[in-house]
Amino acid sequence: MVYDNIVLIGFMGSGKTAVGITLSKKLFKDFVDVDAVIEAEQGCSIAEIFERDGEAYFRTLEQKCINELTSKKGQVIATGGGVPIHSTISDKSLIVYIDADFDVIVDRLSARERAKRPLFDDEERARALYDARIDTYKELATFSVDANQVIPTFIHMIVDYILDKRVL
Ligand code: S3P
Repeated sequence: MVYDNIVLIGFMGSGKTAVGITLSKKLFKDFVDVDAVIEAEQGCSIAEIFERDGEAYFRTLEQKCINELTSKKGQVIATGGGVPIHSTISDKSLIVYIDADFDVIVDRLSARERAKRPLFDDEERARALYDARIDTYKELATFSVDANQVIPTFIHMIVDYILDKRVL
């Protein structure tokens, strides 16, 4: 199997963007972040899109964005936590699940990072969302990495796995 792109999935705050930046440098690939692309195209923040247009509209933007990005090749793509749940991801993607426990995520997220994420307003609802989503993340993943430690301790596991595969 030859993959077009590496797509990082996982719950909000699991570290997809930080992992993606490091991974793209190590693999000499371009890095793109679905949330950042949507914010640039819409000219406002994700929180403002939720507030102004609602979650359902945001989900249509995500599907459009992931379709456009995966029509190209050779990128590391960080997705928002809802992408694997609400969108279809090209089957030519090597999907890496950044698997962090909910309590680890809560410890990692600063108040500022939380405020950017409307679905993290209420911690108990966020935990229920996490519980409802993890099976889908695991099922979709080509490879899962235990992300409960700091990035430098597990990034080499992702790199080793990917270097064994063919990614254009
Ligand atoms: C969401 C995750 C967020 C962002 C939006 C919705 C979700 O991205 O796309 O707030 O449904 O899990 P991160 O996973 O980067 O926090």
